[in-house]
Amino acid sequence: MTIIAISNLKGGTGKTTSAVLLATAFYRAGNSVTVVDLDPQGSATEWAQMAEKAGQPLPFPVTLGNVRTTKNIKENTDYTILDCPPGDPRLIDAAIGVADLVVVPVQPSGIETERMWDTVDIAGKDKAIVLLTSVLIQAKSTTALSDALAEEGVRVFRGAIPRREEIRHWYGHSPHGQLHGYESIAQQIKEARHD
Ligand SMILES: Nc1ncnc2c1ncn2[C@@H]1O[C@H](COP(=O)(O)OP(=O)(O)OP(=O)(O)O)[C@@H](O)[C@H]1O
Ligand SMILES: [Mg+2]
Repeated sequence: MTIIAISNLKGGTGKTTSAVLLATAFYRAGNSVTVVDLDPQGSATEWAQMAEKAGQPLPFPVTLGNVRTTKNIKENTDYTILDCPPGDPRLIDAAIGVADLVVVPVQPSGIETERMWDTVDIAGKDKAIVLLTSVLIQAKSTTALSDALAEEGVRVFRGAIPRREEIRHWYGHSPHGQLHGYESIAQQIKEARHD
């Protein structure tokens, strides 16, 4: 059983999207998975509710969590994915504390990356793995960031998630068809955990 926190101190970096799509990839690979919504904004919860109303519910539970439930988390699925809020240190600390792995989604362009380094510091290099996302094809900034992360000894997933309108439109729906690279991210996590 593996607990994955999805965290970046910066808002709007693709945390909730990554939580739901990664969970979908694990589910399709035959694993049981739960998403825990730690964000008071409730985006993951709203996503699940909208999908249910549309008649195509997400194929895994999305539950609400807080600092207390996180500290006492009970793992009853192969993967538990904690969707963290951007700016609540107590929640983020609690999530990182119980997590086996901290996925840090980041758009690899200038100002977007600043808070990523702080997030990696808080998580520590043993737990943190950076996920390059919303990437524009052939952007030089992607290679530059990958090089900077390698130089600092920070792990990064192989392959980046592209920026796609389809991904944006999946909010509130059960994703269908290919997951634009989240399948490979799930596979890399499974390999790293020997699951
Ligand atoms: N790969 C992608 N391609 C296109 N749009 C994307 C991609 N990933 C995320 N988005 C869009 O970017 C916006 C922010 O994504 P998301 O809500 O997942 O970020 P977040 O980090 O959870 O935000 P918050 O910090 O507010 O919780 C959303 O509109 C989402 O649909
Ligand atoms: Mg979010």
